[in-house]
Amino acid sequence: MRIDVLTLFPAMFPGYLGQSLLCKAIEQGLVDVQVHDLRTWARDKRQTVDDRPFGGGPGMVLKVEPVVESVEAIRVMADDPVHVVLLTPQGHRFDQATAERLASQSRVLLLCGRYEGFDQRIIDLLQPEELSIGDYVLNGGEVAAMVVIDAVVRLIPGVLGDDRSCHEDSFSGESRRLEHEQYTRPREYRGLNVPEVLLSGDHGKIADWREQRSDQKTRERRADLLPGQSCEPTDRIP
Ligand code: ADE
Repeated sequence: MRIDVLTLFPAMFPGYLGQSLLCKAIEQGLVDVQVHDLRTWARDKRQTVDDRPFGGGPGMVLKVEPVVESVEAIRVMADDPVHVVLLTPQGHRFDQATAERLASQSRVLLLCGRYEGFDQRIIDLLQPEELSIGDYVLNGGEVAAMVVIDAVVRLIPGVLGDDRSCHEDSFSGESRRLEHEQYTRPREYRGLNVPEVLLSGDHGKIADWREQRSDQKTRERRADLLPGQSCEPTDRIP
């Protein structure tokens, strides 16, 4: 899989991409992440990529020409068609199902906004999938892009040591519930004991216990995840 990122702040990415699981995935050639500076496609000497909004108002708006032309240039940097994603608080809510869908693409291009947003003609021309990572406003799309990269890359086969891990995560698998509690050694700490069933060696009982804990936790904390209980937005992309 190839992921391109278009940003005004490319220096934000190397630290994050150079650590842990992502770094290994890149080194192993399981994912190729290319970060591009939007100013490369500015048309003037001052490398202007934003301007004041028509109609007045605070802040600056990202200009249509550098964004559209940079996407066109990045598109032809590799053969496969590229799925364009624009990070914005006005987007559909990013979730595990979306991460799974993006992980099945061979190329994804993440557009990071800054300032007051994008000139609408960028959206009209490029028809990107607009995604938000939550109901709050960040200073820009860079952290949101990192969240998307993180969630997507761990789903690429071979990235996690054990490919089963990501099917057992919260929001994953068929039921999409919260994950059950986990324990490791020691068996007892400050009077708190590991549940007996996990020490029993009885895999059937352990699976039942985990199912039941997962159910209960989901009912208590995230009833909206249970079938027929959706209080999430209904205008989701399938
Ligand atoms: N840019 C600013 N806020 C954002 C959010 N919540 N999600 C995605 N991109 C953003």
